Amino acid sequence: MTRAFFVTGTDTSVGKTVVTCALTRALIAAGHRARAIKPIESGCATDAAGELQPADALAHRAAAGLESSPLETFIRYRLREPLAPAIAAERAGIQLDFAACVAMARAAQAETDILLVEGAGGLLAPFTGTARDGYQTVADFIAALGIPALLVARARLGTINHTLLTWRELERRAIPCIGVILNEADAETGLEREDNARALRSFGVPVLAELPYGLARPESRLAEVARHIADTPRWRST
Ligand SMILES: Nc1ncnc2c1ncn2[C@@H]1O[C@H](COP(=O)(O)OP(=O)(O)O)[C@@H](O)[C@H]1O
Ligand SMILES: [Mg+2]
Repeated sequence: MTRAFFVTGTDTSVGKTVVTCALTRALIAAGHRARAIKPIESGCATDAAGELQPADALAHRAAAGLESSPLETFIRYRLREPLAPAIAAERAGIQLDFAACVAMARAAQAETDILLVEGAGGLLAPFTGTARDGYQTVADFIAALGIPALLVARARLGTINHTLLTWRELERRAIPCIGVILNEADAETGLEREDNARALRSFGVPVLAELPYGLARPESRLAEVARHIADTPRWRST
């Protein structure tokens, strides 16, 4: 039974790619066919041949052990500037096709048992569209896919607020969220790290795992989350 989950974050650089890749490996280690995609990636570096290199999509392909598969099945649009996708595209004169992103996710879903879709930036980052005609946000994309979310949050001061704001916006849009992964995306330590999970749980937010900084094999901490994902019932089109 094919299933898909959308990995969103409270912000950019919170660890969505690290978590997505680790979870892909954990799912594969548990015997599932799993892979991840990144429909639009901005901030792509240009290689010597002048081609844009999507680091996240390349990481997703490697995590699934599918290096020989065409990169186009992991990414639909590559953008150079490190900005929200819709804004990077506007500045580059590129029109992003929302329906094409939905179609590529559905095609990827058909080829695996568990698909993870990584968003771009945080939940309300402009995903496609233009300032003049209106933007579709990452949340609009999740709703169009009709798949549940998984929320990655940075284990820092401020995360209780950012996580609750994102959680409540998902709730407001009736997008189910299976829970939060608190990720130590940097090496700094702080008193707040000790109590984030407890505080979030007291607001009714399930914290599924806490990922420490710099683990060589972060998937070792996500085996239980992988089990939870594999056991999550389908929702809408998933
Ligand atoms: N748990 C972690 N341990 C070590 N480095 C991390 C961890 N989480 C994130 N990072 C690093 O922080 C940066 C941002 O993480 P990334 O997964 O790319 O975030 P996002 O996909 O949300 O933009 C990357 O350089 C990544 O390697
Ligand atoms: Mg990423």
